[in-house]
Amino acid sequence: MAFNLKGRSLLTLMDYSPEEIRFILDISRQVKEERKAGNITGRFAGKTLALLFEKRSTRTRCAFETAFGEEGGYPVFLSKDDIQLGAKETIEDTARVLGRMFDAIQFRGFKHETVEKLAEYSGVPVYNGLTDRFHPTQILADLMTVEENFGRLKGVKLAFVGDGRNNVANSLLIGCSKTGVDFTVVAPESLFPDRELVAYAEEQGKKSGSRVEVTSSIEGVKGADVIYTDVWVSMGEEDRQKERYKLLKPYQVNDDLMAKTGKSETIFMHCLPAVKGNEVTFEVIEGPASRVWDEAENRKHTIKAIMLATI
Ligand code: CP
Ligand code: NVA
Repeated sequence: MAFNLKGRSLLTLMDYSPEEIRFILDISRQVKEERKAGNITGRFAGKTLALLFEKRSTRTRCAFETAFGEEGGYPVFLSKDDIQLGAKETIEDTARVLGRMFDAIQFRGFKHETVEKLAEYSGVPVYNGLTDRFHPTQILADLMTVEENFGRLKGVKLAFVGDGRNNVANSLLIGCSKTGVDFTVVAPESLFPDRELVAYAEEQGKKSGSRVEVTSSIEGVKGADVIYTDVWVSMGEEDRQKERYKLLKPYQVNDDLMAKTGKSETIFMHCLPAVKGNEVTFEVIEGPASRVWDEAENRKHTIKAIMLATI
């Protein structure tokens, strides 16, 4: 079914219904096929996109920039050192100015509140390319990758192992519970996701059939079709490094942990960038179960899809 998403922002996947997520994933598959066939049609011709970055990025920046540019659009990269983003000018004022000049805005940075203000004041679609709290465009690519591997989302079991309250884990909780993917967080108790967010996911799961579980036991990976991890120390939390290493060492994704799923077909996923030897061993990320490069590529197709649907 087609949905009219024109003008909509993507700040978290809470903003989108399961049917709307399905719609975006269907467009993603189409644009991936088009690109493979060399069939690019200039659908962003005459359009402009502002790319605001307070934090570094490889995949997200390149996905937005190439997806928009190859369809004839004009993306403008603006780091926090280039513009008055909250320095000398309020976010609200910057948002209103950018909204007069651009057709859409992507923001990556620290406070989730900043991306909310951009959306409220700019009057154009705003995409959250990662905040301290959420990373929704990542999860669209993850769902696409899971579906490519298993031919379905419903009933697939995904276990996130590691920092269970970071932006990626939070967003997976939302995305999986909305689409019927069984989701288990395997993390030390001090890094469990917020209770409220888990309650939200459980509610979504009642409708989609997704089972949501949070455990500190590594045995939680049993039966998982997907083992997913992320860095132990996210951007902006560098001062936590020592404590995180100690807390998360037992949660490293290695051959032993992969074997604990009890399934030979389990795949490994990671949003990247990865610190090999910390959250995942070289053997696992470079081994046959790893799907991380497909996952990275799918960032581009899913980001193109969300822009096509909303601009
Ligand atoms: N996965 C991801 O968001 O990567 P970047 O930080 O390189 O954009
Ligand atoms: N949790 C990581 C994700 C990077 C894409 C971070 O915020 O640094």
